[in-house]
Amino acid sequence: MLTALLDPIEQGRRAGYRREADRARFTVAASLLRVVSGAHLGIEPLRVAVTRSCPDCDRPHGRPVLPVAGWECSVSHSGDRVAVAIGRTGALGVDVEEVSQRDDAGLREMVLAADERGDDFVTYWVRKEAVLKATGEGLRVSLTEIAVTAPDTEPALVRAHHPDLPSRTTLRTLTPGNGYRACLAALDAPSVTVTELDATELLAATGR
Ligand SMILES: CC(C)(COP(=O)(O)OP(=O)(O)OC[C@H]1O[C@@H](n2cnc3c(N)ncnc32)[C@H](O)[C@@H]1OP(=O)(O)O)[C@@H](O)C(=O)NCCC(=O)NCCS
Repeated sequence: MLTALLDPIEQGRRAGYRREADRARFTVAASLLRVVSGAHLGIEPLRVAVTRSCPDCDRPHGRPVLPVAGWECSVSHSGDRVAVAIGRTGALGVDVEEVSQRDDAGLREMVLAADERGDDFVTYWVRKEAVLKATGEGLRVSLTEIAVTAPDTEPALVRAHHPDLPSRTTLRTLTPGNGYRACLAALDAPSVTVTELDATELLAATGR
């Protein structure tokens, strides 16, 4: 069972989810982070000391931090997709969003800056949220405060609340499959090579 891979703090967070789908997404993300980072760090999954702290409250949530300096990670979940990014190229942010049921005027207003066009606004969304997860700010900064390139062009951060952030940011489009958009952001990375792996079989083997 994947649940057995969670530490007591994660078990507590898991128990707090009311909806089964949210509980399942959290469980898969937290256990996959342990399996993948453990394999890279040479530590058994359950012994990887993943910490999460929040600057606004004392609950153990927020950006996940790995126990080995230089290794960075990020996690995202939406619909039936979970994305876990891990690497040594600088701070990472990953975001995946389901496209369906995401197309309403209110959401567009939350995502797009004045000079951004609304076609495929979910691509704008994942590009921006990936950046704000890499900085660790998340939605404490409004998505409309930053601007990214149009969906049919190479992903890049064009404008941000920190003037130097665009030059420090590398974006890569990920391929989560039909009906989803996903993006990875890396900060201060001299070069970024992305290898995307499907964890379905790994999780099935781990969960048995
Ligand atoms: C980061 C954030 C945009 C993610 O939004 P979301 O809709 O939950 O989207 P995702 O599924 O893509 O990401 C969730 C993951 O983001 C990560 N995350 C949470 N806060 C983060 C932050 N500040 N920076 C980077 N990553 C963060 C966690 O790994 C989380 O996974 P988990 O819930 O399984 O532990 C959102 O949580 C946020 O804006 N957080 C900052 C504000 C905040 O936490 N306020 C509450 C204060 S009590």
